[in-house]
Amino acid sequence: GDVHYYDFVLKETNYTRLCSTKSILVVNGSFPGPTITIRKGDTVFVNVHNQGLYGVTIHWHGVKQPRNPWYDGPENVTQCPIPAGTNFTYEVIFSDEEGTLWWHAHSDWSRATVHGAIIILPAVGTKYPYPHPDAQQTIILGSWFKGDLKAIPEEALVTGGDPELSDAYTINGQPGDLYECSKETTYRLLVDYGKTYLLRIVNGVMNQEHFFGIAGHNLTVVGTDAAYIKPIVTDYIMITPGQTMDVLVTMNQNRSYYYIASTPFADTNAPFDNTTTTAIIQYNGKYAAPSSIPMPKLPSYNDKDAAESFINSLRSLASKEHPINVPMDITRRIYMTISINQIACPNSSCSGPNGNRFSSSLNNITFSTPSISVLQAYYKRLSGVYTTDFPEEPPYFFNFTGDVGDNTLYPTQGTKVIMLKYGEAVELVFQGTNVADAPENHPMHLHGFSFYMTGIGSGNFNNETDPKNFNLVDPPEVNSIGVPKNGWAAVRFVANNPGVWFMHCHLEIHATWGMGMVFIVTNGPTRDTSMRVPPAYMPPCSKT
Ligand code: C2O
Ligand code: CU
Repeated sequence: GDVHYYDFVLKETNYTRLCSTKSILVVNGSFPGPTITIRKGDTVFVNVHNQGLYGVTIHWHGVKQPRNPWYDGPENVTQCPIPAGTNFTYEVIFSDEEGTLWWHAHSDWSRATVHGAIIILPAVGTKYPYPHPDAQQTIILGSWFKGDLKAIPEEALVTGGDPELSDAYTINGQPGDLYECSKETTYRLLVDYGKTYLLRIVNGVMNQEHFFGIAGHNLTVVGTDAAYIKPIVTDYIMITPGQTMDVLVTMNQNRSYYYIASTPFADTNAPFDNTTTTAIIQYNGKYAAPSSIPMPKLPSYNDKDAAESFINSLRSLASKEHPINVPMDITRRIYMTISINQIACPNSSCSGPNGNRFSSSLNNITFSTPSISVLQAYYKRLSGVYTTDFPEEPPYFFNFTGDVGDNTLYPTQGTKVIMLKYGEAVELVFQGTNVADAPENHPMHLHGFSFYMTGIGSGNFNNETDPKNFNLVDPPEVNSIGVPKNGWAAVRFVANNPGVWFMHCHLEIHATWGMGMVFIVTNGPTRDTSMRVPPAYMPPCSKT
């Protein structure tokens, strides 16, 4: 593949949204940040110049980075933050990804403003497995907070509450004209009649899954998470945080304007930000000004059936040119519960349940972020940074999706990892639980891999009957999967990427509360199946 070089200059800059101005960290003076456009199999060097006020890292979401965890990015998992006033060059190695991914900061909540798209075109001499689009456009869904992003994790962990509500959702950085003071700046996509557009949609929203649609136009979904799927013709999509979708839209309607709209899905009646962000499709040509602009009819915010039926319709393309490789002989089975919990208040003034603070867990373990990166500790064999006893089953069994009550589980805090031997075929079943009845599905995201989603269902996973219905023929290949809050999802992958790889919920509030864990994949027998040697320079690990 080719080699590309980018410079990312991170700087605090004033932005005004919703009639209020604040300073945010952005890349190269743009929000959302710059798009990286390459071809399959290329390598990209990104020199990150941190001219901001605090240390950050950048993650290349969905890029497998074979043998190259050093440049993966999650803060204090594979590296320590790039200190303000310094720079660090990432080497981002692409392999079989093709389609759309994205990059984002992986330090606290800074990804709300530090993110951008990655477009991976087919390799030279190859084509899309669908008619070549006439044009393309990136559509990034995001969240806007009027308040200080730095204060949110603090509030979640020290005062113990649930500060997840944003003030607006955004399309390409703009809230759209249903929000105060946003009419003039609503994002507009100018289109030509008769042309087919490839929309590369990224869900960069901080805490909500979204429904997305365009009035008067069908969507043909052709890819997700940089892998092709069997085309789905639909009038809405459901997209989970972290996920991307490639969608073809033919501009074949005869009005001049149509709304694009995106609105959250949550399985709840509790209050949350269920407002709608909009953008406008505007046909080029001489049209009269409209008296009204049609709005897409999206499923209502708690329409579980609409969410499930969309997820269930995803199938890998699984063609001769784009084969899939689902492991059949599983050598390692892991069963992992996902819970929102509570932990004793650190300072006796918490606003969480029972005077505690919220936490969250996987198999009842709340992830504690170490002060030295797990990868550096692993490579240098430093003890006392992590332990290898992450449980592969929950501590005890109960009716996970029944009425389990708020006090059922108080998790254990720790930096615990699962060691995987190079080449193991892993089956991972995620089980949502009803501990502290939280409204959201959990977009579980694995670094270093994509996995095949072989099954998804509601209620408790049944080890006897559910595996019989697994899709082993054309399961979708994804890097993030919305595990139903009252259900389960099963995935498979081969541990063929040696290194240290974070797995976490892509809802930022859940991640803040500790919904994450780490896999360490050991080296294979040869140099080519082992981790690359560390770069000469890594950002220093010091508590400040
Ligand atoms: Cu998109 Cu660990 O993140
Ligand atoms: Cu979650």
